[in-house]
Amino acid sequence: MITSSAPGKVFLFGEHAVVYGEPAVAAAIDLRVEIGAEEIEGSSVYVEARDLDWSGEIGPGSGVPEELEYVKEATRAVEAEGVRLEIESEIPVGSGLGSSAAVTVATLKALSDLLGRGLTRRDAASMGHQVERAVQGSASPTDTYVSAFGGVNLVEPGSGRFEKLEVEDPPLVVGDTGASGSTWEQVSGVRRLRDRYGAARRVIETIGDLSRVGVEALEGGDLECVGELMDINHGLLEALGVSTPGLSRLVHAAREGGALGAKITGAGGGGCFVALGSWGDLETPIRGAGGSPLGVTVDGEGVR
Ligand code: PMV
Repeated sequence: MITSSAPGKVFLFGEHAVVYGEPAVAAAIDLRVEIGAEEIEGSSVYVEARDLDWSGEIGPGSGVPEELEYVKEATRAVEAEGVRLEIESEIPVGSGLGSSAAVTVATLKALSDLLGRGLTRRDAASMGHQVERAVQGSASPTDTYVSAFGGVNLVEPGSGRFEKLEVEDPPLVVGDTGASGSTWEQVSGVRRLRDRYGAARRVIETIGDLSRVGVEALEGGDLECVGELMDINHGLLEALGVSTPGLSRLVHAAREGGALGAKITGAGGGGCFVALGSWGDLETPIRGAGGSPLGVTVDGEGVR
């Protein structure tokens, strides 16, 4: 059996705005999806997903849990047949940590290695993006790019700029509300505001500006500035209606506990936030406010 794995991610800046071509900054984190793959007799694709407590055949027309739609679509994209896949994930689903991109990128890499398809990292990122779009209807290229390449990245779909930044790893703590949000619902809500109000369009452009200034602050090692910009970004995400009382409560608890900055990561509507600060400072306040803290570090490697 060959194995492959790919990391999840957090957005330091720019989620939602990146859907409209604005820049975002996202960091791969050391929570991974691991895929084992081996060839089997016949033409079926058989999947064992331990965390979902699900096993069975995936093929055209077969019903699978939502998370496995990505595996099914990735399998179709590389025209894989006669394969058995084992999936294990450390990334909570629907929580803004990029679990669907990680499972997609890891599946593409595992199948490429097993079947000799020769996919490069870049191929895995762009095919992964197509898979996400096929399953979700729309998706920015951020999650699959970051999962494929690792590190802290600037992703600007509007200009086609994708860049792994040369920066020191920022100290990060993730907090999970335990409620999962639907990316599609949150993206639709923002689209409605953007279609209706010029002010919402300007909020989205301002989030893009925060990403640009955020890159300079990260490159200059100015973590206080990075934190302040994250706080502003959170406020603008609240203005776009994607926070929840539970998420905002945790974000404020992390700041009071000493985080240099804290904001939603991902689509919102539940899910996780990311704080700039140390585990020692933030574990207790996040727990005290009813969240589940996760100590994470930046993953520099990407898919392997
Ligand atoms: O919650 P996630 O990890 O699916 O991230 C969604 C990020 C959005 O910017 C809202 C959508 C996208 O495709 O980039």
